[in-house]
Amino acid sequence: MTEEKIGITGTGYYLPEKVLTNADLEKMVDTTDEWIMERTGIRERRIIAPGETVSSMAEQASRQAIAAAGLEPEDIDLIILGTITPDTPLPAAACLLQRRLGNKTAASFDISAACCGFIYALELREKMLRGGRYRNALIVAAEALSVVTDWEDRNTCVLFGDGAGAAVLTKDSGGHRILDSFIRSDGEYSSLLIIEAGGSACPISIEQIEQRRHFIQMEGNKVFKLAVSSMVRASKEVLRRAGLTIDDVTWLLPHQANLRIMKAVAKGLKLPEEQVYINVDRYGNMSGATVPIGLAEMDHNGVLKPGDLLLMVAFGGGLTWAASLVRW
Ligand code: ACO
Repeated sequence: MTEEKIGITGTGYYLPEKVLTNADLEKMVDTTDEWIMERTGIRERRIIAPGETVSSMAEQASRQAIAAAGLEPEDIDLIILGTITPDTPLPAAACLLQRRLGNKTAASFDISAACCGFIYALELREKMLRGGRYRNALIVAAEALSVVTDWEDRNTCVLFGDGAGAAVLTKDSGGHRILDSFIRSDGEYSSLLIIEAGGSACPISIEQIEQRRHFIQMEGNKVFKLAVSSMVRASKEVLRRAGLTIDDVTWLLPHQANLRIMKAVAKGLKLPEEQVYINVDRYGNMSGATVPIGLAEMDHNGVLKPGDLLLMVAFGGGLTWAASLVRW
């Protein structure tokens, strides 16, 4: 039996126009540009305008990716959208994206894996494309973290931003081949990064809102250490599975949570920092959207060259961690 080859045939991304700088944040909470730059490497981030949503951002990124793949929206037969900030709890943002694209042929659903949403979706779609049922899959991660950010909490509000990234995966197409992926989670640490209210455990109420429990809370320090060790482990595991080593890697595209985390991951992998793709300075942490936005930027700007080995790795709430290898 000939092996089915699943490849990335198009990428796209979208960033809201509104830029929120560190100087803007200095006027909102007790912080400084110096602290934010030194501790996170973030200079500015993008924030959605009124009327913009996860599905509207996802539509822009998806149309770009579909066009780059030389397809039309109706050619897509599977849509998976990674997000923790869907337009509505019901229906899935993926269905709203499908409607925006005017697509009637796909099965569409969301996955909730926080910052790992894109790599989780990549792994899932890769498996679903095998075996004949689906041919062209659209994988998207879009996040409007600004709506779940407590803009009075300096510990978190300096970190997050909004955006969307997308990729089309096509079977037997000659696209950029996904060699392997690795996804994992550990619910033991779920309280380290959490939005407590708004679900079945804590339905939304005036009391919950007054206690600001509908916003993201994070124990940054603990998350930091786990982020580094998990991303190093995930990277090594996916390389081991593919029979490759870190010396084979051309580019590392890590989840963009914090510049110090990315540097520590590169150090843990013994990979020179020049081989790490960074855009956290411009966009902050957009949860699951950071990896596909980085991927699309690298693709559109010609950073990735034929034959390059790209290692994508992420870490986020859940806790979840994931890595994927693509031969460009
Ligand atoms: N401005 C000024 N001071 C601040 C700010 C701020 N914006 N935020 C915190 N501080 C203060 C704290 O109050 C603390 O002061 P204290 O010592 O007087 O109590 C001090 O700075 C140090 O705080 P730490 O939390 O120890 O700072 P740290 O160096 O750990 O940096 C950060 C904090 C940036 C949050 C870091 O821990 C981090 O990046 N963590 C990981 C984030 C992450 O990877 N998240 C996962 C993905 S996100 C997702 O899934 C949606």
